[in-house]
Amino acid sequence: MKKMKIKQALLLICLSLFVLSCSKSDEEVAVIAGVPSAYAAVNLTDSGFTANWTRVYRADNYLLDVSTTADFSTLLPNYNELSVNALTIDIEGLDSGTTYYYRVRAVRGESISTFSNVIVTEIISTGPEPTTALKEAANFNVGMIVRSNRLTGITSDIILREYDNITSEYEMKMDQMYPSKGTYDFTAVDKIVKYATDNNLNLHGHALIWHNSVPSWVTNFVGTDAEFETMVKEYITTVVTRYKGKVKSWDVVNEAVDDGSGNPLRNSIFKQKMGNDYIKKCYQWARAADPACKLFYNDYNFASSATKRAAIFKIADDLKKDNLIDGLGAQMHISYKGPAASEIQAVVDGTVSRNLLMHFAELDIQANPDNNLTSLTPERAIEQKNKYKEVVKIFNAIPAANQYALTVWGMRDSESWLLDFWGHIDWPLMYNEDYSVKKSHTGFLEGLK
Ligand code: XIL
Repeated sequence: MKKMKIKQALLLICLSLFVLSCSKSDEEVAVIAGVPSAYAAVNLTDSGFTANWTRVYRADNYLLDVSTTADFSTLLPNYNELSVNALTIDIEGLDSGTTYYYRVRAVRGESISTFSNVIVTEIISTGPEPTTALKEAANFNVGMIVRSNRLTGITSDIILREYDNITSEYEMKMDQMYPSKGTYDFTAVDKIVKYATDNNLNLHGHALIWHNSVPSWVTNFVGTDAEFETMVKEYITTVVTRYKGKVKSWDVVNEAVDDGSGNPLRNSIFKQKMGNDYIKKCYQWARAADPACKLFYNDYNFASSATKRAAIFKIADDLKKDNLIDGLGAQMHISYKGPAASEIQAVVDGTVSRNLLMHFAELDIQANPDNNLTSLTPERAIEQKNKYKEVVKIFNAIPAANQYALTVWGMRDSESWLLDFWGHIDWPLMYNEDYSVKKSHTGFLEGLK
């Protein structure tokens, strides 16, 4: 009987508590977000990790911070209160050899919790997968492009392991070196030159005169044509003299041949102001400034267009008469579909028959020229690999005396200028995001056999 009463009383208490809680609406309950607990980072790679944390009751989302300092004063721009709807997120694009800190808050309605505990994690450099280094396998110079702010870490490790020739991607162009009248800026070039010298790398200069890197003060030049010419002479002389003996070769003029207008020469500001023989003048000034420097003419569609090829060889012949040119650069921005081996061979044959040095200067091979892929399929990766192999095979067969270098225009696919240029996804290079090598890299090595 007594037991029964106790049971009834307990039931009554529970019931009234339940009724009490039901009688209050959600609005009336103070909505306070609980505090999540952060777990240790998982899935560590050499460029990222997965952050994860406990679930907070009725949280709408979470706010994640990632910083390179423990006091969170140096938050990464993409991870500054990043709103996350899950309990986990992949943090990407981090630098190896760097320590990162993360913390998270929960959001529930208007309420934001205090910070979780802080998780610290270090991104360890794992480097590329072991493979034969390109420069060890090749009997010719293998080149990579560089940027002055990417001469450290894994990028540098790979450059030093695989390459013996470097080209500046954009910092040795006129708009960068000569941004305003009378004022040069050699900060970036000096860094690149020092890197090349310190590491015993051949530095190819690219490019003194290019219609696409003309500073605006030159486009809108104030002065006579004669003054313009004096300015160009002074510019070429200043730059070539400054790096005499350090920059072993220069693309003096880049892309002077016109595409399709019927005129042999592009109507650049240099042609307009200095006349048709502007090219010759530029080579004369460069030659005079550093007689030992190898002077190149560089252009694209050298293989794919027979008309353009003829125009390029004509420029070379004119310069060669006066001993003003040493080599030709074929840019080699090509695709897995073409140009054909025979067309590439025609570039080589014309160059070798003129006894000029051959630079396959800007190799990248589009795997997605028709933009019909959203990821690199195994099939396409093999087709791309085969093209890499074909190009290297052709270069490898050039007489040693005519081989200058084979330079690849970029390291990781995501860094390729083509993504921006074509405005769609592609994977034209030889390294993945995590610096592991792609099939195209194997293709390069196979082309050497
Ligand atoms: C590209 C670089 O990759 C970019 O970083 C830059 O902004 C524009 O130029 N032909 C050339 C190279 O000769 O200099 C170009 O490089 C690619 C096309």
